Order: sequence, then C-alpha cells, then structure tokens
Amino acid sequence: MEEQSIVILDFGSQYTQLIARRIRELKVFSAVLPCTASLDEIKGYKPAGIILSGGPSSVYDEDAPPADERVLALGLPVLGICYGLHYITHKLGGKIVPGPKREYGHAEITVSGESRLFRDLPPSMNVWMSHGDEAKTLPPGFTIVAKSPNALAAIQDEARRIWAVQFHPEVHHTKQGINLLRNFVYEICGARGDWTPQHFINETIRQVRETVGEKGKAICALSGGVDSAVAATLVDKAIGRRLWCVFVNNGVLRKGEFGKVQQNMSDKLGLNVDTVDATKLFLDKLAGVTDPEKKRKIIGNTFIDVFDAEAQRLEKEVGSVDYLVQGTLYPDVIESRSVRGPSQTIKTHHNVGGLPDKMKLKLIEPLKDLFKDEVRSIGREMGMPEEVLQRQPFPGPGLAVRILGEVTPDRIALLQDADDIVVNEIRRAGLYTQIWQSFAVLLPVMSVGVMGDQRTYAYTCAIRAVHSEDGMTADWVPLPYEVLKKISNRIVNEVRGINRVVYDITSKPPGTIEWE
Ligand code: XMP
Repeated sequence: MEEQSIVILDFGSQYTQLIARRIRELKVFSAVLPCTASLDEIKGYKPAGIILSGGPSSVYDEDAPPADERVLALGLPVLGICYGLHYITHKLGGKIVPGPKREYGHAEITVSGESRLFRDLPPSMNVWMSHGDEAKTLPPGFTIVAKSPNALAAIQDEARRIWAVQFHPEVHHTKQGINLLRNFVYEICGARGDWTPQHFINETIRQVRETVGEKGKAICALSGGVDSAVAATLVDKAIGRRLWCVFVNNGVLRKGEFGKVQQNMSDKLGLNVDTVDATKLFLDKLAGVTDPEKKRKIIGNTFIDVFDAEAQRLEKEVGSVDYLVQGTLYPDVIESRSVRGPSQTIKTHHNVGGLPDKMKLKLIEPLKDLFKDEVRSIGREMGMPEEVLQRQPFPGPGLAVRILGEVTPDRIALLQDADDIVVNEIRRAGLYTQIWQSFAVLLPVMSVGVMGDQRTYAYTCAIRAVHSEDGMTADWVPLPYEVLKKISNRIVNEVRGINRVVYDITSKPPGTIEWE
C-alpha cells in the first residue's frame, strides 16, 4: 500500500496477526498476505522487508503451505519465524528434521554470533518456542547466531539479507521480541516509522479519490457499529456527498437503536444517511421460523433485497452508483484467506456478503488490513464520538439470534427491555468498554415464580458477558456479584414476562459468543 510497508506472508500460525500488530506498533505499516500471494501482489505493497510467519505444518508435509520461493531472491530483507525458518532452510538447500521432542514454552537462548538482528539485546534471553521440527544442516552461506539448549535459535546470511529465528518474537512471553523486531524493521529494512493514524487517513483518502475519480459514486451499508461508521467517515472525507450511507431497520435492533444511530451518523458525523424502516418485511419473513441458520439466511437475504431496492431508488435520483464501501476488518478476511482455504463455516455470518455480486458493485474496503483497536484510533483521529467508537460488536442478524425459538414482536420487546438493562448496568459499573460483549438472551424456557402474592409463569433470560480480542475465541467474564444482582433484580422487576435470570459461564470454544 505504501513505501514503508512490511509484508508478512502467512503460513497459518495462530500468531501471524500479532506480528502485524507489533510492526504497526513500531509505526511501520504492515500487511498480512496468504503465503500463496503472487509476487506482483507482494510487490504491490512496496515492501521494505518481508516476514515469513510460523505455521502448523512440516516442510515435508504433502500439503505444506506453498509460497513463491522467489521472495527469497528479491533482494529485500527477509525474516523467517519458526516455520519461516524451516521454509528458508529447506528451500535454500539445508535440512529440516523432526526434533527429538517438541520444544514448547519458555526457553533460554544464548546469542553466539554477531548479528544486526540482536543489536543491543542481552547475550542471553528468555524466548517463547513452539516447534517440533528443527534445522539440522544450514543452507550454504548461513551461520548460527543464537542457540537454545535443544536446538539452534537464530540463523542468518547477511549477504543474501536473510535472517530467521526459531522462537516467536511477536508474543509477549518473548520479552525482547519487540526489540528484535525493531532491529529488523529499522536497522535492517531501514523503515522510517512514520505510520500514524493521520498518515493512514491521508493515504486512504488519496487512494479512494484516485479509485472513485471525480464523478464516481459510492454506497455504504451502515450497521451502527464501529467498522462501517469509520469506513464511511473515511470515504466521506474523500468524496463527500457522492457517498450514500443506507441504514436499514431490520426490526431486531437494540432498544432505541434506529433513532440513535441515525442521530449519531447524520448529526454528529455529518454523513449522508438514508434510512429505511423495513421492520414489517423482516418480521413477516421471520414469522414461524425457529431454525438458527434459517433465521440468519432470511435476514441476510432480506437485507440484500432491501438494500438493493434502495440503491435502485437512489440511482433513479442521482445516476448510477459504482462502488460499495464495506467496513471489513483484517480478522474478517483472515478466515476466508487461510492457507488451507476457507475454514469450516461454524455459523454463516451476515455482513453484507452477497451485495457486491448481486449489485455488480466494486468494493472499497479501507479497513481490511486493520484490527479493531486500530480502527478505533483512526476514528478517534477523525474526531468521531466515543459513543460510536466504543460500541460493543453487535451481530448483523441482531436480536434474532438472541431470541431462541420464534422471533415475534412481543419477544423482541421483552429482549430489548432486558438487554437495555444489561447495557445500562454494565455502563454504570464502568465496565462497558472493558468487555468485548455483554448482552441478554431470551430463552424459550418458562418457569414458575412468585411475585408479591402472585404465582408467575414466564420466560427465562440469560446474561452473557465475554472478553475477546477478535471474537474468534472468548472467555466468559466473572462480572461482580453486585452488578449481576442489580441486573437480575431490575430485569425481574421491570420486564413483565421474564421471571428468572441465569448467567452463562461458557467460554468460546466450546461455546460460541452468540447463542445461535
Ligand atoms: P460467534 O457467535 O460466532 O460470534 O462466537 C463471534 C462474533 O461475531 C459476531 N457475530 C456476527 N457478526 N454477523 C455479524 O456481523 C453475524 O451474522 C454474526 N454472528 C455472530 C458475534 O456477535 C461475536 O462478536
């Protein structure tokens, strides 16, 4: 994307995203590409250096992830990490063998040779290892620069500008890891370290203007969430009123959300917002449906129909629209670009997936290389309100996947009220921004209770609160008892139709964050 980037080729390690994050913390832009990326695609990022990530495979596996080995001969500095070290060794004529035992966890390494990679680092240091294979013979020209008790820990060939480490400098457990990466990025690759949110904003605006041209028009689906709001604000800065933001009420939004989002987006952010209330259409289609996947499909397809109809209406008014802006983030793309192909679908996620095909629109995805917290700092830099930036993620199919069983107007109202209490109490306790998601789920379970002198027979509501980095894994949050007590009391007293509250203490895996 720009001249100072570091390209990371992903061989499937669970830590690959962390490498990108660390490099960007060093204020150098970095992008993760699948290891199968073509040389042209890699060069398109104008890299100052290349990092080969770790990965779960062995270089001798039949389905070992392939990469174009010409990346090793571009003359750009290369850093191999774990599997990256094996790959380099194997491709350049060395030998990799299975180690006598898997080295996993902390290890003490000793730096034994001169290396710019280890400049100003202590001669011995604690690192994080996770590997089975190891290099037995090095390729010609390579020397060992660090060793662990069991294996070699770092190698290099200055002449070919290739460095490789067996451990993971990107994880926090490797205390000196960031310094090692700093040496690679600054000392070896000569990067400037000027990648800041403002730089990203300017560069994105320039690119969007270049892509869309003087007259092109774009449309965007606002969800009320951070990602689409930041993407739209960026594009709005580039092309102003030639961007139309459509916000659809699908009837399963949170309490008061339709009005609040409209207000935030048009009044506070000054976006060109076009709202469509399609509640009736969505709820008619959802009537009688209880299967979670069917609910998701109905909502996804109906959304596409509504959006398409709105786009056609707009086109009649303003002429043809060519681009669709989406707030896709890096964690959204990574699953579909995995080295082993798209990972198994656990739930069909509804963003606005089918739109570009159906409408023959070209995509603009300004955030596709970023993580959520980076998107927030971009938004902050553009002066967006914290209320928008700090909003917890909310699924596209909305409350429909939090109402188990049929989605009816009555049940939606019950859940909206219960959910509103959860959100307010979590906010009041000062926990809202510390928690990835906190919400209520309406269960199709009725139980007996007593209120005053009256017997009740009403629904059960579950409270869910999870910590997560990216939604892929999550831990349930031990909310303070006081907060749980308040939530439970308020729900049972204020929401007529719910007489029992339970707390979900399941992490992901094995649970998922949403109940459907
Ligand atoms: P699960 O339930 O799969 O959720 O553990 C992971 C994260 O994704 C959100 N989610 C969705 N987001 N469309 C979305 O835009 C969807 O269909 C969808 N389903 C789940 C969920 O809220 C959590 O943050």
